[in-house]
Amino acid sequence: MADQTVAPVVSAAKPAKPAQASEVTLAHIMSEHDTNLYGTIHGGVVMKLIDDAAGAAAARHAEGPAVTAAVDSMTFLAPVRAGDLLTAHAELERAGRTSMTVHVTVTAERWNATGPVTRVATGRLTFVAIDADSHPRPVPALLEPAAA
Ligand SMILES: CC(C)(COP(=O)(O)OP(=O)(O)OC[C@H]1O[C@@H](n2cnc3c(N)ncnc32)[C@H](O)[C@@H]1OP(=O)(O)O)[C@@H](O)C(=O)NCCC(=O)NCCS
Repeated sequence: MADQTVAPVVSAAKPAKPAQASEVTLAHIMSEHDTNLYGTIHGGVVMKLIDDAAGAAAARHAEGPAVTAAVDSMTFLAPVRAGDLLTAHAELERAGRTSMTVHVTVTAERWNATGPVTRVATGRLTFVAIDADSHPRPVPALLEPAAA
């Protein structure tokens, strides 16, 4: 007779990962549709790019869906104009049990590369990895960079 014993389900923790494994860079050319009443780019457009880049980095680290839980900081350093190529670079800074903190740096340059590259914004956001029932689920630990 076949053994009817049911083996216990063991959910092995996923191995720790370095921040480089989940880095994301998103670039987008700003148009006149993105401007505010002052003629510069609306802060919400920049915030969306930051949230998109950070969310992709968090989802990569978590190897699945992760939702924005908090915007810890958002800094606008210089105005952005229509015709600027915005580049957002997102990198994991911390991984908790189910949450992750992602830092994003945004630079701007003219779309045809005729000007300097300027740092225009930074953001720090917290994401929580979720399962199919939208409940928090564990994420891999973050490996510290090797000492130089
Ligand atoms: C984010 C969310 C999943 C957290 O669910 P929850 O049941 O309250 O989570 P818990 O209290 O069990 O906390 C889980 C983790 O999230 C962290 N967390 C929860 N809310 C947080 C907040 N506002 N800021 C920072 N971290 C937060 C906790 O510290 C914990 O971290 P840890 O596991 O690494 O220690 C839930 O609040 C949610 O679904 N919010 C809406 C998300 C959303 O729609 N975002 C916009 C679109 S992506």
